[in-house]
Parts: sequence; C-alpha cells; structure tokens
Amino acid sequence: MFLKNCWYVGAWDHELIDGKLLSRVLLNEHVLLYRAESGKVVAMNDRCPHRGALLSQGRIEGDAVRCMYHGIKFDCTGKCVQIPGQDMIPPKMRVRTYPVHEIGHLVWIWVGDPAKADISKIVNLPYMTDRNWKGLPGYLHYDASYLLISRISPSCTRIRSAARKSTRTSRNRCPSTRTSAVTRWSAGI
Ligand code: FES
Repeated sequence: MFLKNCWYVGAWDHELIDGKLLSRVLLNEHVLLYRAESGKVVAMNDRCPHRGALLSQGRIEGDAVRCMYHGIKFDCTGKCVQIPGQDMIPPKMRVRTYPVHEIGHLVWIWVGDPAKADISKIVNLPYMTDRNWKGLPGYLHYDASYLLISRISPSCTRIRSAARKSTRTSRNRCPSTRTSAVTRWSAGI
C-alpha cells in the first residue's frame, strides 16, 4: 500500500535527454517519462490501451508518443490522435497521464488524484541548485523492502534515537528492536 496523494521523485532531469523514453515502476504503476519536443516533461501510463504493449518501446513524435505495435499515436495529454488506416478515433481511447513538475534537476510525479496535485507541496531542496554545493546525481539501490529503507537512513536513525530516549521519560515504545546488516558502497569511498 502506498501514499498516492504525494509528490515523488520520478527521475533526474538528465535521464530525459536525446528523446529517451524512460520506463519506471513507481508505486506499483508502470510509468513512461519523456521530454517532449516542446521541452515539457510528460508522464503517462506505460501501457497502450489498444493491446497493452509498452509505450516505452515506442517512439517520440514531437510532443506525442507512438506505440510501435500497431502504430497508434497519443498526444502529451494521453489523447489518441491517430490510428493508422482508420479515420474514426474512439473518444475513450486515451492513456492516463500524471501531473509532473521539474525543479532542481528532479522530475516530480503525482500518481494520486490529479485534482490534489499542488506543486507548492513539493519539498524544497535549495542545495540542488546552489552553486556552493557539489553533488553527484545517482541512486542507492536497496535489495530490501522499502519499509526497511526508511529505518536505515541516517536521518531516520537520529529520529529513532530520539524516540528511544523518549521511551525513558514516557511510556511510548519504539516500534521495532530488530537489527539489520547493511552494506553501503559509493564511488571513491
Ligand atoms: S498495442 Fe499499441 S497500437 Fe496496438
């Protein structure tokens, strides 16, 4: 189960260059991300509504994407705009799209109710664009449940330490006392 009405990071901005179609599984949803010719970032469900082929195996045409199985084309709003060999386009023929917002080299995506997608709720990360900070864009891949990941992050460790201290003064209990072995690898360290 996931919290859907939240902004999540879907990609780094540099991953959407050169007309690349990026396929991601986010909150158990197959999502296609791409930068349209207009520069706008598009996020849509990565399944063609015709026969379920992956749209990420298709190609970008301007701001639209074409499914390469039977050639149906969808614009950046998910609306079907062309069916080869057929003039009539069923109005319900469309792909679900998701609100996205690009800021600080990150592409944020909202998988929940689009009406609640408020970009003012995106976490402010000023160091992502501050020239006084140097960063290395990348990923830390964990071969573990996401529930465990929040327990091993350094900031959360501090929170948990505080929680443990508070158990001495209050009768609240720390949610878990299990320990986990974790190996962390970084280039040059
Ligand atoms: S499956 Fe995409 S056009 Fe047929």
